[in-house]
Amino acid sequence: MLTTIELDAAQAGAIEQAADLLRQGGLVAIPTETVYGLAANACDDAAARKVFEAKQRPIGHPLIVHLADPDRVTQWAATAPRIARQLMDRYWPGPLTLLLPKRAGVSDLVTGGQPGVALRMPAHPVALATIRAAGVELVAPSANPYGRISPTTADHVARGLRGRIDAILDGGECSVGIESTILDLTGEQPAIARPGLIGQAELEQVLGIPLLAQVPSQQAVPGNVKRHYQPTTPTVGVAGKDFPKALQQLASPAERLGAVWFQHAPPESTVAEAIQLGADPEAYARMLYTALHTLDQAGLTRILVELPPATEPWRAINDRLSRACSQ
Ligand code: TXA
Ligand code: MG
Repeated sequence: MLTTIELDAAQAGAIEQAADLLRQGGLVAIPTETVYGLAANACDDAAARKVFEAKQRPIGHPLIVHLADPDRVTQWAATAPRIARQLMDRYWPGPLTLLLPKRAGVSDLVTGGQPGVALRMPAHPVALATIRAAGVELVAPSANPYGRISPTTADHVARGLRGRIDAILDGGECSVGIESTILDLTGEQPAIARPGLIGQAELEQVLGIPLLAQVPSQQAVPGNVKRHYQPTTPTVGVAGKDFPKALQQLASPAERLGAVWFQHAPPESTVAEAIQLGADPEAYARMLYTALHTLDQAGLTRILVELPPATEPWRAINDRLSRACSQ
């Protein structure tokens, strides 16, 4: 067991202390605008290996490299095509990860042996300040034990990883709430490798070209697994109009039900706990993981989630929910 230091990013010296730990090969959970990341020095294989151990993540699942300066892309990528530059100008810092052909010498621990390297410049001021203070790029997978829900507060990180990492840098609640969009630029045509709030239609409009509908290699990339982002409480997704009926059918003295809803309120007395999410994708995403963490702590027998419509604006949220729900 490690003693996990809890640092408040607003306190003087906290970011420098986090940066010192990172330079020494330590693991520090840091806030980003999407979710908290478990950071380690991206150039230190021993540190990267500890990330896999702490998360109990299988070796071979690639890690995103976080930069504080777009000029550093050439240290990691063999080439940065014109459209990569265009997207960096438009979206960095921000929740868009670019998958580019990796430069020779980039560690296989970082890339999982894949031909590409994933790069992202986060928009959170604490993340940027930490990378700059450390003076090295940082790998930062979501700071949750493997397969569990990503953390959007320092408290979520502590519940999952306290005793397994060196420090948690508290920078408040994440504003985006779900992981970044990953755009694969290693092939002939760009393709979304992981949907996020920056969606396909928007990227096609910005680039002026169509994206490939599906990444051909998507199934093959470790880390893209079907069961993921799971609460420990059995979690079921139900489409909007069927949601109230499903709660009524499940309600019984043997059940303590929780509900995450956004349009159809749970019928009176069917649920022990209910959390309402925002009605648009941005608002829904912001509180989704917080809602699941809260209900997962509430001693429930089951969590029911009102699923959004299966339309493009909700694609990233439906992607996360399909992995979070056990059926
Ligand atoms: O918003 C985010 O991207 C957050 C914050 C902390 O930055 N990070 C995050 O990292 O979600 P992680 O490790 O939980 O998810 C990254 C996913 C991997 O599961 C993998 O599928 C894909 O990105 N990935 C990373 N590097 C890759 C590579 N070289 N080739 C293919 N896929 C890669
Ligand atoms: Mg993750």
